[in-house]
Amino acid sequence: MFQLKVNDEIEVRMFEESDAETVFALVDRNRDYLREWLIWVDRSDTPEVTRQFIRDSKRRYENKEALSAGIWLNGELVGATGVVEYEWHNRMLEIGYWLSADQQGKGIMTKVVSALIDDAFTNLGMNRIEIHCATGNVRSRAIPKRLGFRQDGVMREAGLLNGQFVDKVIYSMLASEWKAQTS
Ligand SMILES: CC(C)(COP(=O)(O)OP(=O)(O)OC[C@H]1O[C@@H](n2cnc3c(N)ncnc32)[C@H](O)[C@@H]1OP(=O)(O)O)[C@@H](O)C(=O)NCCC(=O)NCCS
Repeated sequence: MFQLKVNDEIEVRMFEESDAETVFALVDRNRDYLREWLIWVDRSDTPEVTRQFIRDSKRRYENKEALSAGIWLNGELVGATGVVEYEWHNRMLEIGYWLSADQQGKGIMTKVVSALIDDAFTNLGMNRIEIHCATGNVRSRAIPKRLGFRQDGVMREAGLLNGQFVDKVIYSMLASEWKAQTS
């Protein structure tokens, strides 16, 4: 069970099946806004789909493949984050995230991602962390930039969003760079 206390108000905790209705309700409330950037939103059209997603996520976490976790602000679900893929053999991982529209602009995700990075470098022995963003996703790109990531390059037409191919930017942070900027 993955659980990470970010500060006195924010906690990141792996989804349980009992969270399915709550997660679905938040996605459903934010559907139009989220579907602009997240490919899975249209498929998430019933609580049962969300429940199955949580079951699959738990299996993938047990297999050390990926992590899906809720972001809880004073006990209320406000978004999600996780590891899209652990590449243990290369000691690297990719972080993904989304936030309820009404919780944007408070720095919640920047704090969450910073805590996940600390955990990955300190407790998991990772060497490199990636964040991938569609080039047009300005708010998402601002997070790795704010945290001091470097832009490695652009993958051309690496995503298919709402019928349009989009380019994706890869940002990376190395353990040595994080240590230098946080010590
Ligand atoms: C991407 C996403 C999570 C960014 O949310 P966000 O609220 O902009 O990010 P944060 O929570 O880190 O907040 C940053 C904002 O809070 C402000 N802020 C306030 N206090 C802050 C603090 N202590 N630390 C950092 N930022 C702070 C920042 O200035 C920034 O404000 P701005 O929007 O005026 O520039 C959100 O837009 C989202 O979920 N989008 C849809 C899904 C998506 O695109 N996911 C990513 C796919 S790659």
